[in-house]
Amino acid sequence: LPAKTLVQAAANSGLRAVSVRHSSQAPKVALLGAAGGIGQPLGLLLKQDPLVAHLALYDVVNTPGVAADLSHIDSNAKVTAHTGPKELYAAVENADVIVIPAGVPRKPGMTRDDLFNTNAGIVRDLAAVIAKASPKALIAIITNPVNSTVPIASEVLKKAGVYDPKRVFGVTTLDVVRSQAFVSELKGHDATKTVVPVVGGHAGITIIPLLSQVTPSTKFSEEEIAKLTPRIQDAGTEVVNAKAGAGSATLSMALAGARFANALVRGIKGEKNVQCAYVASDAVKGVEYFSTPVELGPNGVEKILGVGKVSAFEQKLIDASVPELNKNIAKGVAFVKGN
Ligand code: NAD
Ligand code: LMR
Repeated sequence: LPAKTLVQAAANSGLRAVSVRHSSQAPKVALLGAAGGIGQPLGLLLKQDPLVAHLALYDVVNTPGVAADLSHIDSNAKVTAHTGPKELYAAVENADVIVIPAGVPRKPGMTRDDLFNTNAGIVRDLAAVIAKASPKALIAIITNPVNSTVPIASEVLKKAGVYDPKRVFGVTTLDVVRSQAFVSELKGHDATKTVVPVVGGHAGITIIPLLSQVTPSTKFSEEEIAKLTPRIQDAGTEVVNAKAGAGSATLSMALAGARFANALVRGIKGEKNVQCAYVASDAVKGVEYFSTPVELGPNGVEKILGVGKVSAFEQKLIDASVPELNKNIAKGVAFVKGN
């Protein structure tokens, strides 16, 4: 039903119209870290997304300027600015989707785990407010180290008694985007029609491209697989080194984040679709969070589709990722439980 009809029906039945503020009709997306290297271009792309009705921009600095700038774009999304912890509640209240690129990026020589000390606390504090203001929102976490920040947010939501494993996502879309770029370049495919699932997590050896499952069906030599797999695993570092101290991937990440947020919104609106994401999962034995293709729908994860049929090489990579992921997950869980 169109929103107006719902509001009218609610008014007629004596319900307050506000009780049918219908997420699927007018999605609100909150972007936390909106003034940053990812936040600004991601805000630009979300402002242009015709499915987004309200774009709430939150950061600890510079949000008014970014919001003023974006609000001059002639698309329909309403833009609001929220600066500093006192305005966080309003930013996330009633949000359908919350995208989080808040936190520090890597410099050359650092691992994603080296960001833990700064970013763990940022994600924990954001999640605590989300738990109160918007416990039903779908939360898409970009902040590194993703393998740990997803368990951190999940533990905070558990503590608050509002955890729903179907609603918390680590964004691994950039690994998919890169894989599709590299494979299409190597094989001369149309990049826009090449699909490469990437499973596992989002750091080093936990990033596992499933080259045996590429669409359109593509044959790789052992040598190609041996070169392409580490290139995909180290692609973030390739950008960090090329930027030489000025940060990590921002533009490709903005594209990936906008694509993932759009997929979540489409799911909310009833258009089921499949994306890879790092979620609470029973897809692989012995590890609680794992990225695989998942079906998205009105409540977030509708179905975990699992890793599917993998090659012996890919199975070895999956097996090797489990202890590494468990270390990252345990570190995140301990951070919240010990605090
Ligand atoms: P950046 O430093 O350019 O921007 C980060 C923004 O976060 C800044 O505007 C900063 O003010 C803001 N911020 C800091 N503390 C905050 C808080 N408590 N609340 C709200 N905002 C806060 O960094 P960036 O390049 O945009 O990267 C952001 C994060 O995304 C990093 O942790 C980076 O490692 C990660 N990242 C993840 C992926 C991925 O694939 N998941 C890809 C690229 C980058
Ligand atoms: C990426 O994959 O580009 C991000 O995780 C940023 C990084 O630190 O590599």
